[in-house]
Amino acid sequence: MVHKILFVTDPHICAPGQRIIGLDPSLRLAAVLDAAILAHPDAAALVLLGDLTHHGLAAEYEELDRILGAVSVPIIPMIGNHDRRDAFLARFPDAPQTPQGHIQTWRDIGDHRIITMDSLDGPPYHHGQHAGLLCPDRLAFLEDALATRAGRHAIVCIHHPPFDTGVIGMDRIKLRNGSDVIDLLARHANLHLVCGHLHQTVSGNTRGVPWTVFKSPCHQGVVELVKQSSSLSTDEPGAYGLGLLSANGLIIHSIDVGTGARVVDGYAAAT
Ligand SMILES: [Fe+2]
Repeated sequence: MVHKILFVTDPHICAPGQRIIGLDPSLRLAAVLDAAILAHPDAAALVLLGDLTHHGLAAEYEELDRILGAVSVPIIPMIGNHDRRDAFLARFPDAPQTPQGHIQTWRDIGDHRIITMDSLDGPPYHHGQHAGLLCPDRLAFLEDALATRAGRHAIVCIHHPPFDTGVIGMDRIKLRNGSDVIDLLARHANLHLVCGHLHQTVSGNTRGVPWTVFKSPCHQGVVELVKQSSSLSTDEPGAYGLGLLSANGLIIHSIDVGTGARVVDGYAAAT
C-alpha cells in the first residue's frame, strides 16, 4: 500500500494586504493548498516545514489559521526562524509539544515514521539571527525517535538544513550544529532528511545522509554561489512537495503551481 504525504514549506504569511517582493503570501499559499488537496485529497498528512509567518506576529498566525481552515488533510506543523513559539502556540494550542516546550513530534504512517523537529534558536531572539539549532534535548528526542521505529523507514523533517548547498548566503544561516546532526543521522540506516529554509528545490546527500529541500508557495530563493546575501528572492511559481510512502521506501516529487502550464497528451496532440 502506498501512502501520500504533502509538504509545504516557508509560506511566510503576513498580515492581510502585506506583500513580499510584490507577492501576496496568503493568495500564494491558498493556491498551493488548493492544488495539492484537489490532486491528493487522500493524503495521510500535510507537513508544514516552518517559516509559517514572516514576522511571528499574532495577526499573521490568525491569517494562517484562516487559510488552514479550508484544509481537509491532517496537518503536522513545524516552525522556522521567522516564527515565534509563543505566538504560534497562542493560536495553535493543540500543536504537538515536548515537555521542554519544543514544537516537534513523530507519527507513524504505514511503514514510515515521520519525525518533525523544531530548529528555532531561541528565546532569546537576536535581531537578524536566522540560523537554527537543535539543542541537546532536541538531539535526544531525534535519537529516540530513530531508535524506536521498529524497522520503519524514517522521514526526518527539519526547517534548517544541517548541510551546505553551495548557496553561500544561506549556508551561513543553516543549522548551527549541523555537523552534529549529520553525525547522528549517519549512525542510523534507512532515512531521508527533508528541509525548507532555502526556498529552492534542491537534493543531494551529505556523508551518506540523503536529503531534499522544497520550494516555497511564495517567493523563491536564488542559486547564488558568490554573493553573501541570504535575502535574494525571485517570483518564480510556488510549489508543494509530494511523498509516496511504501514498504519499498520513499519517492519525492516537487510540483509547481500557478505556472499556467498546460498538461497535454503529446501522442494525441501529434496526430
Ligand atoms: Fe523562509
